[in-house]
Amino acid sequence: MALAFYSITGQTRRFLAKTGLDAYEITDADPYHAMNAPYLLVVPTYDDEMLEPVIEFLGYQNNARDLQGVAGGGNRNFNELYIHNAKDIARGLDVPVVFDFEFNGTAADMAQFQKVVRQFESQKSRS
Ligand SMILES: Cc1cc2nc3c(=O)[nH]c(=O)nc-3n(C[C@H](O)[C@H](O)[C@H](O)COP(=O)(O)O)c2cc1C
Repeated sequence: MALAFYSITGQTRRFLAKTGLDAYEITDADPYHAMNAPYLLVVPTYDDEMLEPVIEFLGYQNNARDLQGVAGGGNRNFNELYIHNAKDIARGLDVPVVFDFEFNGTAADMAQFQKVVRQFESQKSRS
């Protein structure tokens, strides 16, 4: 299962690096990259306008259609705003929120996320 992520202060990037999974990083300079395959998106949480490059990415070619699920990184101190961008994107594109984690994740988060990715991978190979 392909992965795409966005990171502003590096926590999400660190989380993905720790999982050892290959993942495409959406950049501010050029968010126009076509995934051309089913993928999961991992996004941190900020005010909506901070996620504009992710919205540009999702609007590019078939990226919205290929999206299978969204994982959110955030900080639970934000209470009801915890991972609100991941939830909004998932709701808007009718896909599930597949995982959430704080900052760059714990060892348990890494293991659980790897499991989620493997599950999507096996669903994909059955379809
Ligand atoms: C200005 C600012 C606003 C944030 N707002 C939220 C929020 O609304 N909800 C949330 O769950 N986390 C929020 N966070 C926490 C970040 O999403 C969290 O630290 C995340 O791991 C950052 O990922 P990144 O380093 O990959 O950008 C905020 C952080 C900052 C600095």
